[in-house]
Amino acid sequence: MIIAVDGPTASGKGTIARALAARFRLPHLDTGLLYRAVGRQVALNGGNPDDPADALAGCDFPDRLIEDPELRSEECGGLASRVSVHPEVRRALYELQRSFAMRAGGAVLDGRDIGTVIAPEAEVKLFVTASVAARAERRFREMQAQGRSVSLAAIAADLEARDRRDRTRTTAPLVPAADAVLLDTSDLGPAEAISAAIAIAERSIARF
Ligand code: C5P
Repeated sequence: MIIAVDGPTASGKGTIARALAARFRLPHLDTGLLYRAVGRQVALNGGNPDDPADALAGCDFPDRLIEDPELRSEECGGLASRVSVHPEVRRALYELQRSFAMRAGGAVLDGRDIGTVIAPEAEVKLFVTASVAARAERRFREMQAQGRSVSLAAIAADLEARDRRDRTRTTAPLVPAADAVLLDTSDLGPAEAISAAIAIAERSIARF
């Protein structure tokens, strides 16, 4: 069984994907980390993330880079969003994601184009959304907990810029698959969002 979880930054899709993986005992791939690793590698190479050749060269990152805590930073998120617009980069990362999705026992993948491009045949497709205000607030609290000082307005502006780039790119833009179930987590806490996602998944599986 393949479970595809797509949605914008800080929508709660990562938490939901991890919970679904635990509930259905499936391996989980956070595909955003792959794009973040490419962005980071481009920066380490001294390249330009907006240049297709530099971005493609960044796809050749060492496996251990995936473990780098720096990948979770806002800076790497921004770099990831810039390298991910290049079709060359998306092609280079396709095979790895596709083979993860096709694992014999099934898998959970979260990202932006899992239900539309990587695994259109997924039995469960969730598109997780939340308002910009709710997502910015979550990011703000996360960063405060890490002792980092950033303004809520700057976070909201960054989220909107990233959403715009993800939604308007020509290759694999962030759009819900026609058969995805939408889950708006704006007014839900993590436990409520997880319960709602499990209920949606169980309904989708029953229908298959
Ligand atoms: O999900 P996360 O915030 O880690 O993703 C970082 C960036 O990587 C996103 O803003 C998006 O531009 C890109 N991405 C993508 N396709 C995916 C996963 C992430 O384009 N499947």
